[in-house]
Formats: sequence, C-alpha cells, structure tokens
Amino acid sequence: MYFEPTLLPSQDILQAFSERMQEGLLLFRGDGELVFANAIARASLCRDPRDGSTFAERIAQVLPGGALSQARTSGSWSGSLPIGERIVIAHLYHYGAIGQEFFLALFHNIEGQEDYERELEQRHAELRQAYMRLNGAQDKLLQSEKMASIGQLAAGVAHEINNPIGYVHSNLGSLQEYLRSLFTLIEAYERALRAPDPKALIPEIDDIRRRADIDFIAGDLPQLMAESREGIERVTRIVRDLKDFSYSDRSESWKLVDLHAGLESTINIIWNELKYKVTLERQYGELPLVEALPSELNQVYMNLLLNAGQAIAERGTITVSTGVEGDQVWIEFRDTGPGIPADIQQRIFDPFFTTKPVGSGTGLGLSISYGIINKHHGRIDVDSAPGEGAAFRITLPVRQPK
Ligand SMILES: Nc1ncnc2c1ncn2[C@@H]1O[C@H](COP(=O)(O)OP(=O)(O)OP(=O)(O)O)[C@@H](O)[C@H]1O
Ligand SMILES: [Mg+2]
Repeated sequence: MYFEPTLLPSQDILQAFSERMQEGLLLFRGDGELVFANAIARASLCRDPRDGSTFAERIAQVLPGGALSQARTSGSWSGSLPIGERIVIAHLYHYGAIGQEFFLALFHNIEGQEDYERELEQRHAELRQAYMRLNGAQDKLLQSEKMASIGQLAAGVAHEINNPIGYVHSNLGSLQEYLRSLFTLIEAYERALRAPDPKALIPEIDDIRRRADIDFIAGDLPQLMAESREGIERVTRIVRDLKDFSYSDRSESWKLVDLHAGLESTINIIWNELKYKVTLERQYGELPLVEALPSELNQVYMNLLLNAGQAIAERGTITVSTGVEGDQVWIEFRDTGPGIPADIQQRIFDPFFTTKPVGSGTGLGLSISYGIINKHHGRIDVDSAPGEGAAFRITLPVRQPK
C-alpha cells in the first residue's frame, strides 16, 4: 500500500521549491537546448560565457565524455566534476528517445568541502614531517648498523693482527738469546786472537759453541727471520686493506675499479670470521675495470660473505665467482649452507628481516646491500633451494648510465 498523492502540484510550486534547493537543477534536451535551471544552476552553469560558447558546449565541457551516453543507455550517470574551484557530485538522468529526449542533472557540493581541504592540507603537512623524521631515523640507523659492523670488524682485525704480532714478539725473544750466545762466542774468539797461543784456546771455544748451540742457531736464524718478516707483512697487508675498506667514511666518488682487488681486501678483513669453518674457492673470470663506488661495494661483499659464513653451521664451502656478460659483470657468492626457504626469499631484502637470534642480526645487511647495488644500477638475484645452499649474484653495468 502506498499513500497516493491526490494532486499533481502546479508547475509554480515545483519551481518555487527548486529555487530553494541547495542543489543545482538543470533540465535540458538531448540536442543541448536548456529547458529549465534553478537559481544555483543558473549561478554556476548558466552565466554568459566569455568565450561565447553555447549551453550545449558548456555542458559538454563540464560533463566527462561518456556521461551523456551512459545516462542514455542505462538511464542515469553519477560522478564528481570540477566546477570552478569546487568539486561537485553530479547525478544525470535520462528520459525519452532520440528526437524527444531529456536530461535532468542534479549537482551538489560536497558538504564542508573547505574544512575537508584544510584538514587534508594539515594531514599532508603532518605526513611530510613524519617522512622527514623517518628519513633522519633511517640515516641514524644505517649509521649505527655501520658502527656495529665496524665494531665486529675491529674485533676480528684485532685478532688477526694479534697472531703475527704474537709470534714476531716471541721470535724477537729468541733472537735476543741467540745474539747473546753469538756475542759470547765473538768475545771468545777475540780473546783467542789476542792470546800468545791462540790454538790453546780452541777447546774452550768449542765448548762455548757446544753450550750455546751455535749450529742450531745457524740453522734456525734464517727461518726465524723469514717468519717474522712474513708476520710483519701480514700486519701491513691487513692495515692496508683496512684503509681501503674504511674509505667509506669519506664521501666517495665514482671510480674505475678492479672488483677482484676489492673482493680480496674484504676477504682478508673478514677472514677471521670465516677461517675456522669455511673453505673459500675462487673462480675468477677476466673482468674489465668497472665504474663503481669501491668501498660501498666492499660493504656488499662483506654482508654477503658474512651471511654465507653464518649460514654454514659446521664446515662448508663458499665459492666466489666472477664473469662478464656483454656490458655487464657479475659476482656470485655461493655457499653450502642450509639454503633459504621459498616463503622467506621474498622478504630477506626487507629492512629488519632476520631469522637470527635476537641480538645477533639486525636484518639490515641485505637491505643495505640492495640499496648500494641499486645505486650502481645493478641487480642482486638469489638462487636457493632448501638443503642446497644459497647463491647471491650481483650484476653491475661496466659503465654507469649517463
Ligand atoms: N646465505 C644465506 N643462507 C641462508 N639464509 C640467508 C643467507 N643470506 C641471508 N639469509 C637470510 O636472510 C636474512 C636477512 O639477511 P640480512 O643480512 O639482511 O640480515 P641478518 O644477517 O639476519 O642480520 P645482519 O646482516 O643485520 O647482521 C637472514 O636472517 C637469513 O635468514
Ligand atoms: Mg647479514
């Protein structure tokens, strides 16, 4: 049951109401001739255009293409439109057939649009600030990750230097003993030279020789010297590598670099972390000089090598291979660890993603590496099946794009 309206109100009444409406109301024919417009619609849409366009043209400008035809086929169309500086919601209705068709359009402003815009602006400003803060926080984090890995490195390097220094020190102790014996012998010879009968002193000299074990000293000295020299050379090399490596703190510029040299320095520096469980194999190809930021690449090698080493529980092999393909070079780190399950392969490059125990990994190694390789216009690809180890392959362009 419906309430039946008893009388159709006169056109005057409908028109009077339409003038009071908050919405714009337009009635126009299919050929674009205006039939009726209420006050709001007249004010916003029916003013004399400065460019002399007709109402049909005006409507075509305001409504998106397709609006009229959609209303024609499905009876109505709704959407939002810019009118002047405002966005209005529009509903368009169609009635009739070709030759005798009408469109009714209703426009209404979005309620409280100014407030809404103001709020949007404020939100935007807040977001901007949050973004700046986040950016700052990220820089700090990267810095502290760097500090943490430098701390770890420093401990390793200290250990690595300690060894040769230790045996050079003990060799110096032996050398002191040997020198004392040699001087005693020299003194005995001097005494003999000055004696009236030097030959009489030969048994005494022989005795000194025997007691001081001069024959042993003669055999041991060259070896001791060679060993000490090698120890000092090792320390020198570590210090040099460390210097190459720590270049990263200065603002570095792009250079043409020998990637193998960077790999070797990095391997030397972290060798202490790997040597007890890892056999390192090198399968280096011939590489051209590559345009790069060398110390940043060293940081990538370090992260990948440390990950590979950490993945190996007891004993295993890391194979570092390199090669060229067209105008690109690649470096691959393959380990014989447990591999990376397929479901986490998507996430390992995410900042803070780690499967390592709390306190032992921050989960930034790969995301930092990804950033560095990205900066070089290169790629990092992972290839891993559970139980079959993991391979991380870096591909870099030989020359950076202009
Ligand atoms: N060679 C690998 N074998 C197996 N899993 C790996 C290997 N490399 C990375 N992963 C996985 O990816 C995760 C993220 O590595 P990433 O280097 O980013 O962080 P992390 O090593 O956990 O911590 P951080 O590097 O900050 O000390 C690791 O926790 C590990 O689960
Ligand atoms: Mg790591």
